[in-house]
Amino acid sequence: MEKILKDLENDADIKVLVDSFYQKVNKDPNLAPFFNDIAKIDWDHHLPKMYDFWNSVLFGAMKYSGSPFAKHQVLPLEKENFNQWLGLFFETVDEHFQGSKAEEAKQRANIIAQTFMYKLGLGDD
Ligand code: HEM
Repeated sequence: MEKILKDLENDADIKVLVDSFYQKVNKDPNLAPFFNDIAKIDWDHHLPKMYDFWNSVLFGAMKYSGSPFAKHQVLPLEKENFNQWLGLFFETVDEHFQGSKAEEAKQRANIIAQTFMYKLGLGDD
């Protein structure tokens, strides 16, 4: 029987989404090095920032302040990396949630990724 999933509704759901997504990212041989070797991020610092980011994007919580593009501009990102990132993000959303906010999360991620790619000169060819 197909599992009935709830929609993304609150802080606890955002935490599930973000934690599960970065667990996948951390296991991905192409994406993990951006975080662990290039940016050498502190996960204890990055994850709460991402909870705030997604809370702001999806629920309008004004907790996140930052300039995400600037952080990505310095990374040697290729279009393929964005497609991998989006693939894992969509997979994570679909594993845990279902509904209009879940769809919105995927749509917003895609729009932001396309904007980053465009600004990085990695647009459609
Ligand atoms: C190939 C795809 C991507 C990779 C490899 C990547 C990698 C990273 C890395 C390494 C950082 C930490 C930078 C640092 O603190 O020095 C970061 C931060 C961040 N990323 Fe990404 N990212 C990708 C795509 C995206 C997308 C599509 C979004 C939005 C939907 C996003 C949102 C953010 C945000 C909000 C931060 C925190 C920025 C801050 O410190 O305020 N990233 N990313």
